[in-house]
Amino acid sequence: MNQDRENFGSNIAAIMALAGSAIGLGNLWRFPYMVGQYGGAAFIILYILSSLFLALPIFLAESIIGRSTGSGTFGALEKLAPGRRLKWAGLVTVISPLIILSYYSVVGGWSVEYLGYSIVKGFGLDISGLFGQFISLPVMPLACHTVFLGLTALVVLAGVKSGIERFNKFSMPVLLVLIVIIALYSISLPGASGGIEYLLKPDFSKFTGDAVAGAMGQSFFSLSLGVGTVLTYSSYMRKKDNILITGLGTAGFDLMFALIAGLAIMPAVFAAGIQPDEGPGLIFQTLPYIFAKMGVESLVISRIISILFFLTIVIAALTSSISMFEVGVAFLTEEKKMSRSGSVLVILAGTWILGALCSLSFGPLSDVKIFGSTIFGLCDKLTSNYLMTFGGLLFVIVVGWIMGRDKVRDEFTNHGTLKANERIFNLIHFFIKFVAPVVILLIFLTNF
Ligand code: PHE
Repeated sequence: MNQDRENFGSNIAAIMALAGSAIGLGNLWRFPYMVGQYGGAAFIILYILSSLFLALPIFLAESIIGRSTGSGTFGALEKLAPGRRLKWAGLVTVISPLIILSYYSVVGGWSVEYLGYSIVKGFGLDISGLFGQFISLPVMPLACHTVFLGLTALVVLAGVKSGIERFNKFSMPVLLVLIVIIALYSISLPGASGGIEYLLKPDFSKFTGDAVAGAMGQSFFSLSLGVGTVLTYSSYMRKKDNILITGLGTAGFDLMFALIAGLAIMPAVFAAGIQPDEGPGLIFQTLPYIFAKMGVESLVISRIISILFFLTIVIAALTSSISMFEVGVAFLTEEKKMSRSGSVLVILAGTWILGALCSLSFGPLSDVKIFGSTIFGLCDKLTSNYLMTFGGLLFVIVVGWIMGRDKVRDEFTNHGTLKANERIFNLIHFFIKFVAPVVILLIFLTNF
């Protein structure tokens, strides 16, 4: 392994970093809505099954590749399959997180703006057109995208230990406390029980093929799979750390956060008597309206809750964007022998430009359509429908079919020293080798 490569200081640090990558907008703006849409507790069960039997094996495959090679995605595939040109497929997984980062940073920027708005002004009841107006402006969203991406770059610039590890170790507990406070407040609102019922009451009539596909897609996105972030972070794991515990810990945190986020959001939505919405609409339109309604009762509480909420979103989005940024930086420092600061600058410039185009696609560039989508929509569809699944497939095939069973076992069990890992190795290997590729192929084909 490369001698001057930094590692995370402990197993907990690795879990915090990976959980930071996993917990993000996916948990806050998609999961709660999907749970309600697809039958409450019934969907939660599906989601847990999909996390355990599909997402976890892919996660472990990425981890095994990353830690065994001690390289970012491109170099890792070159080491594992020299001469097979697989590294070029690996290059796709260097580029895809940077595409996600570009549009993710635009949304991160909106959250920064809304955090500022909550602090300076607070939301009034006349906010209905605010979101649409704001995102179509040419300058302000760009400025916020710049701030968000700049913050991401600063953390990455500080390095694996003093930047990424330190930031995640500090922000993950903060995030948990914030979301629990908001959930407790939300549950205490009159009329909140409708939201709790929406989330938890199982409705098996909604247990459809769509729900299954939705659960799988969501677990994929939420655990940040197929884009080399898990691989790259795992390459910073110490040899004595436990890959299985890290995977279970990350998936557990991610699920717990998603559930609490549901309890933070849905009860408040129902208490305000509104229909839940998906995606940007939920966070940037429905919730500010709810904060404004709260303000009629108590201005102070409304301001505090909205500040805490948008702070949660900004931090959750930052810890995810940092992981995507690092994939690009690992590639440039390891493969192109660039300095960390030079690499950060290059990635910053590239993602800033693509992000700016995504941002402008809500305003001045809204007429530019590629394959029928705006630039923002295209980046989103391309990555979530095709590139992430492609990467997932690539990683499980490498571990299941190319790496060699003994090598995989050695890495997974720390050379036979982890007895519990040893015991379930056959099962995990079976899922990585046979189940995951088939299921991912099915998802890929349905996306077509
Ligand atoms: N998992 C993150 C979320 O839930 C998104 C993400 C995807 C982060 C891919 C990194 C890589 O928001």
